[in-house]
Amino acid sequence: MLTFGVDIGGSGIKGAPVDLEKGTLSQQRFKVRTPHPATVAGVTDGVKQIVDHFDWSGPVGLTFPGVVTVGSTIRSASNVDQDWIDMDARALFSERLGGHPVTVVNDADAAGLAELRFGAAMGRRGTVILLTFGTGIGSALFNDGVLVPNVELGHLELWGQDAERRASSKAKEEGGLAWKEWAGRVKEYLAHVERLFSPELIVIGGGISRESEKFLPLLDGVRTEIVPAQLHNDAGIVGAAMCAARQAAA
Ligand code: BGC
Repeated sequence: MLTFGVDIGGSGIKGAPVDLEKGTLSQQRFKVRTPHPATVAGVTDGVKQIVDHFDWSGPVGLTFPGVVTVGSTIRSASNVDQDWIDMDARALFSERLGGHPVTVVNDADAAGLAELRFGAAMGRRGTVILLTFGTGIGSALFNDGVLVPNVELGHLELWGQDAERRASSKAKEEGGLAWKEWAGRVKEYLAHVERLFSPELIVIGGGISRESEKFLPLLDGVRTEIVPAQLHNDAGIVGAAMCAARQAAA
C-alpha cells in the first residue's frame, strides 16, 4: 500500500510516496527549501510543489515542527513563523492541496513512529525516547509502543535556557563547534533526560544521525542504551505517511 508523506523541516520541505509494507520511500524524495521566514503562505506553497511534482492525488501525511493537537490545531512555532499559531493545520493544507485528505502531526512524533515500526526501536517495549537533533531538538516518547504525543523535550531548561538553543545541530553549526564540544553538551542534555524519564532506550535521529560514529563514542557516562536512528532523514516522511494511512482507515 502506498501513501504520501511530507516532512516540513527548518531547512527543507521534502516528500515522497511511501511503501507502508516496507517503511521505505517508493520513489526518490523531492525537496524544496524552507522559505525564510517560514510563513504559512511560503510553506504551504512548498508542500504543494512537492505533491504536484509526484502528481499525487490520494491522502497526504504531513509533519510540522511544533505542537499539533489531536484536533489538528498548531500550538507552537519555535523555528517557523509565528503566524502558524492557532491555525487549523488540516483544513489549511487540505484547502491548499485542492481537497486532499490531510493528516498533520509533530515532526519528531512522526519520526518516532517510523523508527518504532521499521527502524532502530523496532518492537521495543518500556519507555523509549527518540530525540531528533536538527534546527531544534524534537522528541517522541513511547511506553510499550504507545506514543505520548507532543512531548517537547527540546524545551527542557538547561544552562538557563531551552536546551535546544545550545545542543541542537543548528547550535553546533552556528557556533562552529567541534564534535567533542557539541557532544559534551549533548551528553549533559541526555543525562538530564535520563534523570527525568529513566528510559530503556534513546534513539538519536535527525540528519546528524548519519554521522553517529563521530559523536556516539563521545557520549560516555550516559547509562541508557543509545542507538542511532536507522531511517535518518526519511523517518519523518515515513511516519507522516503512516499517520495518513491510519487516518484513512479510521
Ligand atoms: C519544536 C518541536 C519540534 C522540534 C524539532 C522544537 O523547537 O518545539 O515541536 O519537534 O523543534 O523540529
